[in-house]
Amino acid sequence: MIQACIFDLDGVIVDTARFHFLAWQRLARELGVSFSEKENERLKGVSRMQSLEIILELGGISASDEQKEKWATQKNQWFVEYVDTLLPKDIFPGVHKLLEDLKIKKIKLALASSSKNAQRVIKLLGIASLFDAVVDGTMIKKSKPDPEVFLLAAQRIGVDPSYCVVFEDAEAGVEAALAAGMKCVGVGQVTALRKAHRVVVTTGDFRSEDLEGL
Ligand code: BG6
Ligand code: MG
Repeated sequence: MIQACIFDLDGVIVDTARFHFLAWQRLARELGVSFSEKENERLKGVSRMQSLEIILELGGISASDEQKEKWATQKNQWFVEYVDTLLPKDIFPGVHKLLEDLKIKKIKLALASSSKNAQRVIKLLGIASLFDAVVDGTMIKKSKPDPEVFLLAAQRIGVDPSYCVVFEDAEAGVEAALAAGMKCVGVGQVTALRKAHRVVVTTGDFRSEDLEGL
C-alpha cells in the first residue's frame, strides 16, 4: 500500500533536463567536445561535478580542480539564466492535477533532486508548498544512483521506504529508487528505464488511481 510519492524534478515535473543539456552542450562546444542527447543520458540525475567529469572524460581532457570549478560555475550560470525564464505554466501538463489528486488521497509528497537549484525551480513554478518535504543537492553527499536522496526524503516525511514510489526520468534515478527499496515509475523512454515497475511517457499520464496497481 503506497503512502508516499517522491518526485524527481528535472525532466519529471518540468523540462529543466533540457536546460541542463543545453548548458552542458554549450560548455562542451567551447571545450571542443562532441556531446549529443545520447551522451547526455549519462548525466541525468548525477551531480554537477560528476557531470563535468563525464564531459571531460568524453573529450579526453584533464584539468586542475580550480579549472573544473570555473567550468562548473559557468555551466550553472547558463543553466540559471534558462531557469529564470520559468513560469507556473511551464510545469508539465497534468502534473499539477496529479499532485493535487494525491494530496486529496492523503498521500505524502516529497521532492528529491540532485540539483542545488531545486528550490529555485519549484518556487518559480509556484508548487513549493505542495510538498511535505524537499531534499535537494545541497543536502546530500552522494548523488544518484546512490539511494541517499530518496532515503532522506522518506525519513523527512516519516514513511518507510517500502511504502514509497519514486517518479524518475534518469536511469541513475531508477537505480537509486530500487536501491532504496522503493517502487519506481519511470518517466520517458522504456529502453532507458526498463528496471522501473512501470513506465509512462510523461508524468501527467500517471493517475492517482494507478498507485493501486504498483
Ligand atoms: C539533476 C539533473 O536533477 O541535478 C542533473 O538530472 C544535474 O542533470 C543535477 O547535473 C545537478 O544539478 P545542479 O543544478 O546542482 O547543477
Ligand atoms: Mg531527472
